[in-house]
Amino acid sequence: MPSYKLYKMLHLGAIVLICMTTAGLAFHAWLGGTKESAGGARKALLALHGVGMLLAFVGGMGAGAQTGAISSEHGFQSWVHIKIALWFALGALPALPYRSPRLAASLFVVVPLLVAFAAWVAGGFLPLTR
Ligand code: HEM
Repeated sequence: MPSYKLYKMLHLGAIVLICMTTAGLAFHAWLGGTKESAGGARKALLALHGVGMLLAFVGGMGAGAQTGAISSEHGFQSWVHIKIALWFALGALPALPYRSPRLAASLFVVVPLLVAFAAWVAGGFLPLTR
């Protein structure tokens, strides 16, 4: 059985993979690239994004189970629902860049904010100052 540490490493590594693949697509689209001109590289990034989504889910659920935030007895703690919604949002990211170069550029601000928010939500909305 993997430890909490291993699940969290998997979770965070996978989030980085999701962000990198999204950034690759976004940068190409920002420069005026199209799906057609991206060719096989786009397919490779989409496949890696999918791997990242799977591993982020497994790592997040595993880490949540290890801390007791997810259990068969008590279900999901409230913050886990928000994380799952964020996970769906990350899943939709590759559909955005080729819609417009402006949208593609905005992802370089939106995605880090999304990840920062997810980090705050993780483990249950702890205070930001003390
Ligand atoms: C299936 C959905 C998800 C689940 C079940 C989940 C679960 C978790 C758990 C259990 C932790 C460790 C919390 C702790 O140490 O107390 C964590 C940390 C983290 N998660 Fe997620 N997560 C999910 C989705 C996401 C998404 C979509 C993102 C990014 C947008 C994300 C970003 C992070 C970050 C940055 C941390 C490190 C912050 C910290 O541990 O204090 N997670 N997540």
